[in-house]
Amino acid sequence: MLQFKTIIEPFRIKSVESIKFTEREERATALAQAGYNVFLLRGEDVLIDLLTDSGTGAMSAAQWGAIMQGDETYAGSRSFYRFRDVVQDLTGFRHVIPTHQGRAAERILFHSVLKPGDVVPNNNHFDTTRANVEVEQAEARDLVIPEGRVPSQVHPFKGNVDLAALEWTLAQDGGRVPLVMVTVTNNTGGGQPVSLENLRGVRRLCDRFQKPFFLDACRFAENAWFVKTREPGLSGRTPKEIAREMFSLADGCTMSAKKDGLANIGGFLALNDDAWAERCRNLLILTEGFPTYGGLAGYDLEAVARGLEEVVEEPYLHYRIRSIEYLHERLVAAGVQVIQPAGGHAVYIDARALLSHIPPREYPGIALVNALYVEAGIRGVEIGSVMFGRQPDGSEKSPAMDLVRLAIPRRVYTQSHIDYVAEAVIGVAAIKHELRGFRITKAPAVLRHFTAQFEPLAA
Ligand code: F0G
Repeated sequence: MLQFKTIIEPFRIKSVESIKFTEREERATALAQAGYNVFLLRGEDVLIDLLTDSGTGAMSAAQWGAIMQGDETYAGSRSFYRFRDVVQDLTGFRHVIPTHQGRAAERILFHSVLKPGDVVPNNNHFDTTRANVEVEQAEARDLVIPEGRVPSQVHPFKGNVDLAALEWTLAQDGGRVPLVMVTVTNNTGGGQPVSLENLRGVRRLCDRFQKPFFLDACRFAENAWFVKTREPGLSGRTPKEIAREMFSLADGCTMSAKKDGLANIGGFLALNDDAWAERCRNLLILTEGFPTYGGLAGYDLEAVARGLEEVVEEPYLHYRIRSIEYLHERLVAAGVQVIQPAGGHAVYIDARALLSHIPPREYPGIALVNALYVEAGIRGVEIGSVMFGRQPDGSEKSPAMDLVRLAIPRRVYTQSHIDYVAEAVIGVAAIKHELRGFRITKAPAVLRHFTAQFEPLAA
């Protein structure tokens, strides 16, 4: 019997969308007009868009078919019950509250349960999660293991929570901790997974200190695949069984269905506590909509329900994780500094190491993102001093890393697209000494990375 090494895309393509080729000069002009912030470009001017894996995936024929079955009844829609059943089958949580995306679930949860001065521990808060904690005047405290902060260090579960640090936080500040969160996979830390063993450790501490434990579950299926392939004794379990066990250790979750829901929009908050669920539903009605649609169309609920079934299929996850690893391997082979090991949804380039001639306060991540766009039409995103450098009191502090994330949309690009991306990154790395830092000319007080404007610094 032949043994194949090539892992192929587990789908064939039924519908295609053209991408636009532009000249370097056009891109340089477009970027200058966008204030040197790739968030402000027109999507059309991007050849390969790796800004995010969120809401950018390709839906399956079965999802598009399900969309036609969407029931747009305002209250008690059939599509809600289908959605609820799929979410409950996967997570086991009693209350399922649909929201238009992940941050709406975060805002509803945090606004319902946090008060000023509270502390929310997490491995690493993603930007919107952090902002939704801080807007309640609470502290978002990152407690990832020390290995998770060192880009070059290899560790199978770099997203794990530092259990000793969590224990310390709960012992010292327990009175101010209304819940503990863990993000799977840990996006900010490089798309790195959290082991089941670590989640069990968090559960034990939460039991001891009587704290509810919530997962930020955006990329739960990718996390389940890493558990299956890396955690001893679990290779025989299906990704769905592992995902169920992850959820069974928690009391609730926030979810952006734009990632592992394989949908273009959608999310949910799911939890067991009746009183919290009631508070959250009341706020949902105020800001999102009636509890059986939560800001989504009936057809969106159908797309998410089907997506949650497809995302735990083994051939899909095998291809998904391997395709990220493939890009990672090519960059490592060429000597480009990347976070080790490959993440589940993205490759993270260590811009601070690669562009060591540009200090963090001159935003090496922005320099690299902008060069990738101008040279190759590729759009990545800075996860570093611009995204996280501004403190709630307005001061500046460089975070542990300056990264550039190349997030791969699900089921969208083929291997030749990825080969082109590898060639582009390696090409830019070869001319790194020509790259210069940037200065911020205009920025809002919070979440500045989305709309800030920059100016290139002179050579
Ligand atoms: N939590 C994590 C870990 C995320 O990565 C995101 C979104 C959210 C919460 C919020 O979900 O976008 O549906 O409101 N991350 C996207 C990204 C935007 O590009 O990584 P949302």
